[in-house]
Amino acid sequence: MTNYTLLYLFPFFLLIQQQRCLQLPSALDDGFVGINGVQLTLNGAPFYANGFNAYWLMDVASNPFQRSKVTSAFQEAVSSSLMIARTWAFSDGGSNALQSSPGVYNEKMFQGLDFVISEGGKFGVKLILSLVNNFNDYGGKSQYVQWAKERGEQMQNEDSFFTNPMVKRFYKNHIKTVLTRKNTITGVVYKDDPTIMAWELMNEPRCSSDASGVTIQNWISEMACYLKSIDGNHLLEVGLEGFYGASSSQKNPNNSPHGTDFITNNQIPSVDFATVHSYPDQWLSNRNHFGQLDFLQQWIYDHIEDAQEVLQKPVIFAEFGTSDYNVSQKNELYNVVYSSIYRSARIGGVAAGGLFWQQLVQGMDSYKDGYEVILTEPSSTVRLIAQQSKRLSVTPRRFLSKKKT
Ligand SMILES: *[C@@H]1O[C@H](CO)[C@@H](O)[C@H](O)[C@H]1NC(C)=O
Repeated sequence: MTNYTLLYLFPFFLLIQQQRCLQLPSALDDGFVGINGVQLTLNGAPFYANGFNAYWLMDVASNPFQRSKVTSAFQEAVSSSLMIARTWAFSDGGSNALQSSPGVYNEKMFQGLDFVISEGGKFGVKLILSLVNNFNDYGGKSQYVQWAKERGEQMQNEDSFFTNPMVKRFYKNHIKTVLTRKNTITGVVYKDDPTIMAWELMNEPRCSSDASGVTIQNWISEMACYLKSIDGNHLLEVGLEGFYGASSSQKNPNNSPHGTDFITNNQIPSVDFATVHSYPDQWLSNRNHFGQLDFLQQWIYDHIEDAQEVLQKPVIFAEFGTSDYNVSQKNELYNVVYSSIYRSARIGGVAAGGLFWQQLVQGMDSYKDGYEVILTEPSSTVRLIAQQSKRLSVTPRRFLSKKKT
């Protein structure tokens, strides 16, 4: 912690438990993705855009010999008119860590992230940066809990991540360190960089040890306020998969609750837009392809309805995909997601875009997980992706008369 930190913390620390929190005024600069009612905006117009996940960007960019793959990823994305990339701004403990132990950062990895943001800016791709993982990959909440244990804290389980004061300090320090990082390539502090579209608190937060949802709700409120006290420029989302709480858990795959609630979690005022992930092949492996598609259709419909009518906030389908190698089945799944988004977007609705999981480029065989799409390998799926980009990119023109500025 530097003295500089106190400048941020002091006026705000009394407020952090409250749901409403003091926020810095947003910059009026063009180029930041903003929000107007149920729509995202960019440069004064509604922003509907197609996008992709590439969690590996920082990791690969940290190796100067591999860095060109990051450039290729953005270049190929732009050729398919993909405008949004979601990626990890975390890697906690273990080999190639960004944060090797609490508050200790690896400059080589940070320069990798600098490169990712710099290249995103060059190609005009907006970034969603996630700040920690619910799961063990790249450290995650279990690594934070482990760090606290090593310092003598009593921890019940991994979900102590959400409540233990030492862990919360570690995590807040990570938020602050990333947001106040000055990019060594562009010279722009991350919190002032319009290439960044939004911060994501956590990849797929779940808290199965507290099905009431209170634990997660408090954690989101506190962390969202903390983040907004540092950065008034950027949007914030939680990283939720979209599971409903106990009262609506019949809408969840297999009716299972996960300690989160799509409605109340996203109603927290400093959460700007909602997110949904969709993996019917993993969630409903007991059903056949068509059973999975039926679920997916309903899952997406429910979330668009709830975002439109209840939350009145934009929603991004921040991960979807299938490991199904049958191309026509894969395309059917993409079609369900893309058509549902477009039906909402074309009338100026809440569905702002979809990010498929995951984009790879040539020469990344070790990253293949069955879900990958390589945009330079011609396929009907790649054509579908480009079509969706096109129809979403003309959507704002329909609403220009409604624009605010
Ligand atoms: C792929 O899926 C389609 C539609 O579900 C099916 O008709 C076709 O036989 C499958 N192809 C292969 C190679 O399994």
